[in-house]
Amino acid sequence: MSDIIMPLISEKEIANKVKELAERINTDYRGKNLLVVCLLRGAFIFAADLLRLLNVDLSIDFIQAASYFNEKISSEKLQISLDLEISPQNRDVLIIEDIIDTGYTLSKIQEMILALHPKSLEVCALLDKPSRRKVDMVVNYRGFEIEDKFVVGYGLDYGQKYRNLPYIGIFSA
Ligand code: IMP
Ligand code: MG
Repeated sequence: MSDIIMPLISEKEIANKVKELAERINTDYRGKNLLVVCLLRGAFIFAADLLRLLNVDLSIDFIQAASYFNEKISSEKLQISLDLEISPQNRDVLIIEDIIDTGYTLSKIQEMILALHPKSLEVCALLDKPSRRKVDMVVNYRGFEIEDKFVVGYGLDYGQKYRNLPYIGIFSA
């Protein structure tokens, strides 16, 4: 019960950034065959806000992968508990992720989708902790670069708590 959450990114700052990303995506994907893949659970709030600002034709699907198991460091094991129902073959796939830390989760999911022959594959991540990266990757749409701190809120959790916070804060117990 002694969790401390220090505000880092406000609701307003998030909303502005989401709008900026949506404008870029609307421009880049006009006339394309967009399939948005939302990574559960962390990206659900970001995706919900972003998707409502998109005005291009698109389908939405979900993947749930766990690599954390309630720990603050990635266990480097990836388990898929919910897989795609829509085939990414020949689609312009855009993965929506909450945060890229080591990059391990996303690189595994990218490999999985690439094996299914999408037309293109890009990533949109709200947060990025580049100092923790272990796997090189290109993130085409990136919200905020943050330092190496554990953050919660706006979909991100600690032990399945705090996903509902409307802002992003630095967590410490
Ligand atoms: P990666 O595989 O190390 O890049 O970890 C990515 C996943 O770990 C993200 O999708 C998040 O679910 C989780 N994660 C990484 N950093 C944080 C954090 O600061 N707060 C909450 N979840 C995090
Ligand atoms: Mg996640």
